[in-house]
Amino acid sequence: MERVKTGITGLDELLEGGFPQGRNVLVSGACGAGKSIFAMQYIYKGALEFNEPGIFVTFDEMPDKIRQDMLRFGWNVKELEDQGKMAILDATSARAGQISQEEHSFGRAMYDRNEFQGKLLNAIKELKAKRIAIDSTSAIGFQLEQGKDGIRQEILSINYILSYIGMTTVLTSEIPQQPPEDTRQYSRYSVEEYVADGVIVLNFIGGMNPRRMFIRKMRGTKHSEQVHSIEITDKGINVKKSQVEI
Ligand SMILES: Nc1ncnc2c1ncn2[C@@H]1O[C@H](COP(=O)(O)OP(=O)(O)O)[C@@H](O)[C@H]1O
Ligand SMILES: [Mg+2]
Repeated sequence: MERVKTGITGLDELLEGGFPQGRNVLVSGACGAGKSIFAMQYIYKGALEFNEPGIFVTFDEMPDKIRQDMLRFGWNVKELEDQGKMAILDATSARAGQISQEEHSFGRAMYDRNEFQGKLLNAIKELKAKRIAIDSTSAIGFQLEQGKDGIRQEILSINYILSYIGMTTVLTSEIPQQPPEDTRQYSRYSVEEYVADGVIVLNFIGGMNPRRMFIRKMRGTKHSEQVHSIEITDKGINVKKSQVEI
């Protein structure tokens, strides 16, 4: 199986070299756990260091805010967009009732499968993309009437089509804050993890060494089974070798 370098410092060596190529990985955690940064680091580093164009689909944050926040890590997203190496696909503006000023955007306030897949596939073609990040699947779920069944079906459909055309995808999922020893919930609707090829859980527990990561599942991979300490520094997310107690 071919591997895709994650761009997350220290993570590839815990995954036999990276994500399985053409598969999808769910990154879940409570608010502030680092999911959006993780997803953007995957896209940004992919474009900058591994010559793999990528698309970041944002449902929760405005593209300009993302570009500004990422500058804190020294990541000039705009520059890579101008070079055609990455794109932000804006689903946030429409959800907020605004007309997007972005080159790549959705017009409908409510999630619409045809619009979503149509716009995403267009952007993939235009950029010759290899990597996709969808931030977040919870936002898609909120807009589906059928709740759990709806999101499961929707993620299946997204994963099927993206896998079929060879994309390696990171999907984020927002979960409620849980006590650190409670690691039972991996996604917003508790169904997304079953249709994902991999699940990575991020946790913020506070204190001296406040962040944790563990790989809950990665199909086709002999992965680390430990809980790892992680940091968010001025260079982004960094997974430490040291294993820690939950
Ligand atoms: N420049 C930075 N240096 C260190 N930590 C940061 C920096 N920027 C953001 N963070 C941390 O990352 C958190 C936001 O991460 P984010 O990926 O947006 O979380 P999530 O998407 O899981 O809600 C902030 O609450 C803060 O703790
Ligand atoms: Mg986020």
